[in-house]
Amino acid sequence: MSPSHFSMVELIGIKRDGGILSDEALQWIITSYVDKSIPDYQMSALLMAIFLNGMADEELAALTQAMLHSGDVLDCSTIPGKKVDKHSTGGVGDKVSIPLAPMVAACGVVIPMMSGRGLGHTGGTRDKLESIHGMKTAFTPDRFMELLAANNVVLGGQSATLVPADRLIYALRDASGTVPSVPLISSSIMSKKLAEDLDGLVLDVKVGSGAFMKTVDDARLLAETMVGIGASHGTTVVAYLTNMEQPLGHEVGNASEIRESIEVLRGDGPADLVEITYLLGREMLVLGGIAQTHDEAQALLVDAVASGKAFETFRTIVSSQGGDVAMIDDPGLLPVADHTHVLRAPTDGWVRRCDALEIGIASVRLGGGRETKEAAIDPSVGITVHAKIGDSVRAGDALATFTYAENEKLEAALGAVETAWQIGTTPVKNQPILLDEIR
Ligand code: URA
Repeated sequence: MSPSHFSMVELIGIKRDGGILSDEALQWIITSYVDKSIPDYQMSALLMAIFLNGMADEELAALTQAMLHSGDVLDCSTIPGKKVDKHSTGGVGDKVSIPLAPMVAACGVVIPMMSGRGLGHTGGTRDKLESIHGMKTAFTPDRFMELLAANNVVLGGQSATLVPADRLIYALRDASGTVPSVPLISSSIMSKKLAEDLDGLVLDVKVGSGAFMKTVDDARLLAETMVGIGASHGTTVVAYLTNMEQPLGHEVGNASEIRESIEVLRGDGPADLVEITYLLGREMLVLGGIAQTHDEAQALLVDAVASGKAFETFRTIVSSQGGDVAMIDDPGLLPVADHTHVLRAPTDGWVRRCDALEIGIASVRLGGGRETKEAAIDPSVGITVHAKIGDSVRAGDALATFTYAENEKLEAALGAVETAWQIGTTPVKNQPILLDEIR
């Protein structure tokens, strides 16, 4: 079939029946969806067929290429040094990019970071950053390159012209139940990352209840798929599989996650969040050619935090991207909703379950995420998780504090966490953070 003879109904039928779409057909679909000649309902049907039947390697390569070239592609060749980025497949309380990018940039790696918004029950780096008053994350390619040349780091997102196919498909997947699919996640992430003209990429592939991949085997398949796409484009990709059974750190929200990120930049912060931030940071410094070994990289990261260079870099990013630096210097100025509700332990014992998915859904219901494509985020609400897996609690101890703006939303959020915490009568081991690595 020549491109002018493609029929979307026929192409949906091919995928629905387990067939293979040609490179030309996939290219036509992406171009036509971006120029709005394919409507959302047909694209949703195709996404569901891909979700159910998967994609062959050659289809995935063609889809990723078509998405990558659906808009502008950055050319970072004029900026000296290796360009490295990090991307997470999405989790609850996963604010790692926010302290990580300034820490690694302070050590000399160039980071053209393009992050996403919240998807389903998971939070998004862009939404979190925008809780800093005035902070912008959408730039034209020219402005993005100006900021990168000035600061060696940008915390941005896709603009209308960078990988527009992913921006449109990502929002449609969120609203059509087609997010947790290996080909759809890998083409989404890798099209954005390849458009950044990177030398190296570190992936944090989340596994468990709060992740899109629920088992280590599924996560490994996703990681291997993305490492393979990187290799075929000459970009070194290293993937870490990390635990997402429970939220990362203590804060789940938007402004509250900025506050917790600042703790890490100040040399403090919860142990699990600090562990993943340094794990990924070490790899980025090695991929960026700044350190030869992970030990050397660790020493550089520790120094960047202890000397204040990492925090200073974050201030520079915030002020260059229009954000109010006073909110960073004094995180108490970040938005906080007026009301709090404390959820308490019903009995003595050890926490055996602190479910990331249910807590993520509760955060969305509070207003911290979007229930529809168009919904606005309330940056001031969130959940502070006090008791995590392995902790011992007494009856009446606080399990979590809900910071909320509206009673009905609190009720809806509490409904989501009815079984989120389970307390057993015997001690429970702490969960390992790092589950595997693929290179
Ligand atoms: N992050 C992305 O950028 N895309 C996905 O599909 C999932 C997580």
